[in-house]
Amino acid sequence: TDLAAFRTALLNWFGAAGRDLPWRAGAEGARDPYRVWVSEILLQQTQVARGLLYYERFLTTFPTVQALAAAPVEDVLKAWEGCGYYARARNLHRAAKQVAQQGFPTTYEGWLALPGVGPYTAAAISSLSCGEKRAVNDGNVRRVLARLYGEKTPTEAWVQQRADELLDPDRPGAWNEAVMDLGATTCTPKKPRCPECPVSALCTAFQSGEPTVYPAPKAR
Ligand code: ADE
Repeated sequence: TDLAAFRTALLNWFGAAGRDLPWRAGAEGARDPYRVWVSEILLQQTQVARGLLYYERFLTTFPTVQALAAAPVEDVLKAWEGCGYYARARNLHRAAKQVAQQGFPTTYEGWLALPGVGPYTAAAISSLSCGEKRAVNDGNVRRVLARLYGEKTPTEAWVQQRADELLDPDRPGAWNEAVMDLGATTCTPKKPRCPECPVSALCTAFQSGEPTVYPAPKAR
């Protein structure tokens, strides 16, 4: 079916061309939850290239969740300096105290209950570190899916439904990162690199010859 073809093509591409990022080390679906968590909080409002610098430094300063929980909040804010959105650092520190007591969450709902973790971040962390079948949904995912299906005005509910049905239940973490990478490196907003896209043969927007008209700019 198209669904199986789409998953195979995208996951094969991800294996060969996916970005090599430090928080991606480890067994699929069972990565170190602390590293995945720190990376996802950093990437909430910080570009990957910049996040990389902070990621390494933060983990050197606070190598474990116990170290983070035991540190004074001033030290945590200091490590975050220059990165912006300091509420992220405060929430991470607060959550680390909970996790140091109770252990890492093992489900989507468990992650969502932590301070600073919303639906996107909970889906990312739980799929990557616990193998939870949860699709991430953000502006990149919206654009990729709008183009794939040729939908000019995707609603939030539409995007979530398409994302949920496409998610590969056997490899949810890899699936989410494959969609992230496709949106970040190939299916970009203004000049998508369709000749490099592993799923262009299945893409309505590509076939239309005018991929960037999907999705239409939001009315404002
Ligand atoms: N943005 C948010 N989470 C990410 C991840 N795991 N890899 C790359 N970019 C991301």
